Amino acid sequence: MLDKLKELEDEAKNKIEGVSDLEELKTLKVRYLGKKGELTRLLRSLGSVPAEDRPVIGKKANALREELERVIELREQSLQDEQRQEKWEKERIDVTLPGWPATVGQRHPLTMIIDEIKEIFTGLGFQLAYGPDIETDYYNFEALNIPADHPARDMQDSFYITDEFLLRTHTSPVQIRSMERQAPKLPVRIICLGKVYRRDDDATHSPMFHQCEGLVVDTDITFADLKGTLDLFAREMFGPEQRVRFRPSFFPFTEPSAEVDISCIMCSGKGCRTCSYTGWLEILGSGMVHPRVLEVSGYNPREVTGFAFGMGIERIAMLKYGIGDLRLFFSNDLRFLKQFS
Ligand code: FA5
Ligand code: MG
Repeated sequence: MLDKLKELEDEAKNKIEGVSDLEELKTLKVRYLGKKGELTRLLRSLGSVPAEDRPVIGKKANALREELERVIELREQSLQDEQRQEKWEKERIDVTLPGWPATVGQRHPLTMIIDEIKEIFTGLGFQLAYGPDIETDYYNFEALNIPADHPARDMQDSFYITDEFLLRTHTSPVQIRSMERQAPKLPVRIICLGKVYRRDDDATHSPMFHQCEGLVVDTDITFADLKGTLDLFAREMFGPEQRVRFRPSFFPFTEPSAEVDISCIMCSGKGCRTCSYTGWLEILGSGMVHPRVLEVSGYNPREVTGFAFGMGIERIAMLKYGIGDLRLFFSNDLRFLKQFS
């Protein structure tokens, strides 16, 4: 029995010494010291040993268990050290090399304008509203008082997906969705900023662009409220000297309607190429919400009135930053984008 213990000790120590990774070591530990391990098995056969020898052998066996545990632990530590050393070698850093310059990202100029618009209008008590980019014919046109044969559809030459669905051509459908959602509760006071799509493509027209829709519905809302709100917006956005001009216009979903121009930033209103020598630049369409639009959205046009506007965000950005070609916003040229940090 003593010989067997000695044999086991030699074999185990040998194996433990020869092991080359932690997994293997774990297997060995189980093999020798586990519940079904070799040492345990040996101890079980202690019954066949003469009674007077048992204490000696038992003591030896326990000593061997402790000894092996110690050896395994030592081996484990040295293997771990080796591993760590290897990793260090592989990932060694040359601290004398020059570092990578830390590049700090920045918001896209349009995002900066969008954030600024949000701030101005939420400061006035407007809430943010959203609608889908893929709209139904009903919300994009029909509910806005633009029936199928109306010539106003032609001005928004559109991307259709099916006869029923299209990419929204303006953010005005969100007017309807917002009113439907909360009718007949008052007031409605929302803005919606998002992407819109039209078959347009030149220096001031992009097939995808952004609009900000605004809508206020309440008792006693007048055109003066519309003027005051947009006046304040223009001064907040472009500075206190900014002049705003309301020009009569037509939209099927507002009556009366107006387009709003601001004096040209590039030439301070003297006239230049950007403003086609008029001194003014159109930034938005607006008007008093048409009674039919209020009605289809769940409000009684004899009890409430409202105003709405829809502005082109790229146009605002062009004016604010003095940019002549709107397509620059979408060409992802870093030389352009880096100027806005
Ligand atoms: C509209 O889209 C109306 N829904 C606006 C409106 C809302 C009127 C609420 C009344 C009440 P319009 O098609 O004019 O109107 O477009 C509004 C603004 O979007 C324009 O003043 C212009 O600034 C911008 N815009 C129009 N087409 C493009 C385009 N292709 N690329 C960039 N900006 C554009
Ligand atoms: Mg227009």
